[in-house]
Amino acid sequence: MFHEWAHFEGSPQEIARNENYWAIVRRAFTLNEDWINLNNGGVSPCPTPVMDAVKRHMDFANLAPVYAMWEVQVPQREAVREKLAGLVGCDKEELALTRNVSEGLQTCQFNLPMQSGGEVLTTTHDYPRMMWAFQQRQQREGIVLRPFRIPTPAEDFGEVVRLFEQNITPRTQMILVSHVNFVTGQVMPVREIVALGRKHGIPVIVDGAHAIAHLDFKISDLDCDYYSSSLHKWLCAPHGTGMFYVRRDKIADLWPRLGAPVEKQNDIRKFEEIGTHPAAPYLAITEAIDFHLAIGSQRKLARLLYLRDYCAKRLMEHKRIRLCTSLKPGFAIGLLTFEVEGIDPNQLKDWLWKEHHVITAVIEYDQIRGIRLAPNVYTTIHEIDRFCEAMNTAIRIVFTK
Ligand SMILES: Cc1ncc(COP(=O)(O)O)c(C=O)c1O
Repeated sequence: MFHEWAHFEGSPQEIARNENYWAIVRRAFTLNEDWINLNNGGVSPCPTPVMDAVKRHMDFANLAPVYAMWEVQVPQREAVREKLAGLVGCDKEELALTRNVSEGLQTCQFNLPMQSGGEVLTTTHDYPRMMWAFQQRQQREGIVLRPFRIPTPAEDFGEVVRLFEQNITPRTQMILVSHVNFVTGQVMPVREIVALGRKHGIPVIVDGAHAIAHLDFKISDLDCDYYSSSLHKWLCAPHGTGMFYVRRDKIADLWPRLGAPVEKQNDIRKFEEIGTHPAAPYLAITEAIDFHLAIGSQRKLARLLYLRDYCAKRLMEHKRIRLCTSLKPGFAIGLLTFEVEGIDPNQLKDWLWKEHHVITAVIEYDQIRGIRLAPNVYTTIHEIDRFCEAMNTAIRIVFTK
């Protein structure tokens, strides 16, 4: 399959506009042609080679799971660890395979030490489940959650870092920051925030849910201690796969969420002690990485940004639409969040689905009441056009003021 698109030449920006190239990529997915899925931000479909691999590994495991899964497949995870470490840019001995971004984040959120009255600094655009984790610690141990607001969109990284610094108090004992936030796709200056935390002796946990396999970067660029991500979002890996990076000298002191053998105290694999679970999804991460690399990180990012910008340009023809996502280079990924004056986003989302079979996400978070679009590599310009035409009808005919 990959050979079909291997002969295409051109810069990432040229390839981003070449619908023939992306039509071949699209054929790698099994899709319902009646649906336009513009919400790949929660979880993405896997391409066929990934689904085939999951099935192959499941079938093999099922021959005699105690042997095939535990004795053959579990050791095979090591090759996956190594390959993934190469992709994300860290040492394989610092990378645990998890089920999603939440597992790694909550390991830090619950187990990094804090005193009663100690504060956690984060933004009002960090993810709800991460807030629930802190709220639980708040109830149980009396820690204090201190979210603060960043500009939307934030197009001055210096200002964002200054806001973090201004909000640090003598009681701040932890910082949680999204590398890319889920609300608008805003990119955050993580390297600088990590450096700030280090200067003040405060651990910084990085939520990389939307960054891995979307932004083109290496974890080593960020110089962070804790970084977690899901792989079922932008890597299109099997559902229920994630990764958790912990800097080597931080592993021993971080308790795993579930008990692990004492001998594993210094071993990143202690974070994988979660009880019996299938090996197949983890092994098929290999095919997801191959698929991602066959496109290439730069081409993929360029395409996702191209789709976003194309759609944004058409939406901005309507005076009632306000974009919440930055279109300036470097400040956001290929998500697009917008509000429509006078239209309830829940009603709009339901109407888009019922009348046009377009799948979108509602964002009602902090001060935003809008719709978030998250196209993927299989999304066509024709689909974006169909969505924009549906929006024309919504604004001019259905939801008039
Ligand atoms: C920024 C962010 N963090 C965390 C999560 C939780 O992801 P998961 O359910 O894969 O753990 C999400 C999910 O969309 C997210 O967008």
